[in-house]
Amino acid sequence: MEVFNSCESLKKVLNEGVGSIGMVPTMGALHEGHLSLIRRAAQENKRVLISIFVNPTQFEDASDLINYPKTLAEDLKAISSIDSKMHVYAPNANDIYGQNVPTETFDLSGLDQVMEGSKRKSHFQGVATIVKFFLETFRPTKAYFGQKDFQQLLIISNLAEKLNLNTEIIGCPIVREVDGLAMSSRNKNLTPAERKIAPLIFKALWEIKEMSNNKKYPVLKSFINTFFLEYPELELDYFVIANSKTLLEINDQDKAREGRAFIAVRLGKIRLIDNLDLA
Ligand code: PAJ
Repeated sequence: MEVFNSCESLKKVLNEGVGSIGMVPTMGALHEGHLSLIRRAAQENKRVLISIFVNPTQFEDASDLINYPKTLAEDLKAISSIDSKMHVYAPNANDIYGQNVPTETFDLSGLDQVMEGSKRKSHFQGVATIVKFFLETFRPTKAYFGQKDFQQLLIISNLAEKLNLNTEIIGCPIVREVDGLAMSSRNKNLTPAERKIAPLIFKALWEIKEMSNNKKYPVLKSFINTFFLEYPELELDYFVIANSKTLLEINDQDKAREGRAFIAVRLGKIRLIDNLDLA
């Protein structure tokens, strides 16, 4: 494993080597969800590049940025246990933004206006800026993203296509804890009591999947509202069933089963998101 802090030296090494490059962009605090992307990239490519960078331009809440878990030494250990030949890019913000990476405003085809985008106004512009920088700078053959952040995955696929970035964007399934909770770096910041009830978020989605066979959208929405009223610690931020290509909310008369359910819930200081295909 080779760790680079400077993008110039990494670029040089990549340019000198041969064979396809699979890139996995991350913000570190790696868990099995991230590692599943890294394993897939290793299976499908000659070379693997993992970035570990907590990108400041995608955080709107300063305390969320400060409290984001940072576990570089453990992350490097986990990566090297998969394969010893990985390239890791772990820069400080200066290496990227010191090069005057402009925080551009992209046309994200409206995909950034709903759900996470309507709650966190500049978040996806920040994500698009950093991902465009990675793809243009390192020119990976394929880049791997999790369906855990389904909206992010669609936005990046849209961006790569629009800007002809020449990298194939691969979406990978959500990895869950045994109790159903979607793995997330933020789970580390839950108190033991919060961690215990967090799996109810997936339970609610699962119930929706089962009900979506024969219940209309308004019934499903009121089920969710009632479900979360029972657990005041879990504060429902949004629940939406949307078309999985456009992210437009389905109509009340549409078959819910043809959509994907998206949810965001606040639990203490942490905000958790999850989603489930209803088909
Ligand atoms: P981060 O939250 O670290 O996630 C890195 C990648 O891992 C993302 O593609 C995310 O969807 C995926 N991932 C996270 N949890 C997962 C899970 N439980 N199952 C499967 N995949 C999972 O997403 C980001 O970082 C950043 O926005 C980034 C794309 C790196 C840009 O800064």
